[in-house]
Amino acid sequence: MGSCKDQEDKQVKCVYVDGAIIVGAGPSGLAVSACLSEQGVPSLILEKSDCIASLWQHKTYDRLKLHLPKQFCELPLFGFPNNFPKYPTKQQFIDYMESYASHFSIHPKFKQAVLKAVFDHSSGSWKVQTQDCEYISKWLIVATGENAEPVKPEIFGIDKFNGPVVHTSEYKSGSVFRNQRVLVVGCGNSGMEVSLDLCRNNAIPHMVVRNTVHVLPREMFGFSTFGVAMALLKWLPLKLVDKLLLLMANITLGSTEQLGLRRPKTGPIELKNVTGKTPVLDVGALSQIKSGKIKVMENLKEITRNGAKFTDGQEKEIDAIVLATGYKSNVPSWLQGCDFFTKEGMPKTPFPKSWKGDCGLYTVGFTKRGLLGTAFDADKIAKEISDQWRSISDCNKSCNSHVILLKKS
Ligand SMILES: Cc1cc2nc3c(=O)[nH]c(=O)nc-3n(C[C@H](O)[C@H](O)[C@H](O)COP(=O)(O)OP(=O)(O)OC[C@H]3O[C@@H](n4cnc5c(N)ncnc54)[C@H](O)[C@@H]3O)c2cc1C
Ligand SMILES: NC(=O)c1ccc[n+]([C@@H]2O[C@H](COP(=O)([O-])OP(=O)(O)OC[C@H]3O[C@@H](n4cnc5c(N)ncnc54)[C@H](OP(=O)(O)O)[C@@H]3O)[C@@H](O)[C@H]2O)c1
Repeated sequence: MGSCKDQEDKQVKCVYVDGAIIVGAGPSGLAVSACLSEQGVPSLILEKSDCIASLWQHKTYDRLKLHLPKQFCELPLFGFPNNFPKYPTKQQFIDYMESYASHFSIHPKFKQAVLKAVFDHSSGSWKVQTQDCEYISKWLIVATGENAEPVKPEIFGIDKFNGPVVHTSEYKSGSVFRNQRVLVVGCGNSGMEVSLDLCRNNAIPHMVVRNTVHVLPREMFGFSTFGVAMALLKWLPLKLVDKLLLLMANITLGSTEQLGLRRPKTGPIELKNVTGKTPVLDVGALSQIKSGKIKVMENLKEITRNGAKFTDGQEKEIDAIVLATGYKSNVPSWLQGCDFFTKEGMPKTPFPKSWKGDCGLYTVGFTKRGLLGTAFDADKIAKEISDQWRSISDCNKSCNSHVILLKKS
């Protein structure tokens, strides 16, 4: 450890990191650290929270289970235990992350929020600043996630609302809303599952659906829909796979249009590839919509002191609001002087090349492909950095033997 001067000429503690700096100790940060370690490259993870997988530990609801079978959510080199069910629970996923970190002896530095990272052209290294320290390395790996910050849209009148307003990242269970009329804004996977959880806790959810949405069953004829789609894509063109998926979804679920859930014109996989919008995988919400227990509402016009007005003219009294309005990346708030990311904090280069930037910058977990995308990125990054690491080590060794030879002569 040493000290260096910051831009305002103040002395700051500074640490030269042997290996790569990884920002974020979620599944992506852990995966890339494990892959690097497998290649003999050390790394240091800086994590703003007090634990690994903080999104899963602190910002998800109790009833959450993986939507995809476990084989599609495994991190590289170390799989789920055999005794885990096909769709592990949130706690099982957290346990898996804990054993993953301990298997690879990964010890992130917690409570180190990265406030700023910038490439220093004169030294050819990244300077990464937290509240305590400046960390310096040739390689910077961004693993802060696509879901780093909750999106809380401005909704007309919401500041006047009398009841509680929570984002799904703060929602744990519907038990606190028993017998209450709850407005759920948004109908992605979070909106659907929170509405279902509210039903199961005898609350009365009203779910706002402002747009088209693809709802698919989690399984089709006993097989995971995601697995079926992956298998079909190996043999058939994407548009045909989308048609087959929709045909099977209609057989399994019936038409969703009649329930107020209009389907987009573009098929579910094509839409995911083009816009990143994930289809909803139904785990029970649809039958509650059919039975009228989850009420589908049109877009919001405004929130009043004790209710909501909708664009179709309806008005409802409500007791609480849950914003299921999604998440966003936070990269633009701390990564500076770099045009690799869009202003929304996503890589400008599309998958499968989004993992690599310039000057030793890498990203893991920004592919809109969940944990499968993370595994892909982590493997690529580790291979590339380990090549550079080895050539630097070889160069150091040959420089040292040169010095010894010069001394002898
Ligand atoms: C409710 C929910 C359910 C999901 N279920 C699935 C699923 O079943 N399957 C699937 O594949 N995907 C799922 N996802 C997507 C999910 O986000 C990812 O698969 C996974 O968590 C991504 O891991 P990550 O490490 O990239 O990001 P994250 O898990 O978000 O981890 C990023 C880490 O970076 C830290 N961080 C952020 N900013 C800073 C900073 N400036 N300095 C230091 N540290 C920082 C955060 O504290 C966090 O610990 C789900 C997402 C949500 C919200
Ligand atoms: N079990 C699981 O595996 C699981 C569970 C939950 C979430 N997830 C994953 O987590 C990620 C985030 O999911 P998410 O559901 O939280 O977010 P999301 O997929 O981004 O959905 C956000 C929803 O909010 C709506 N919305 C946003 N602003 C709005 C506004 N002002 N008024 C009305 N509606 C508004 C959006 O509508 P528009 O479409 O019109 O923008 C959309 O329906 C996804 O990748 C998802 O698959 C997985």
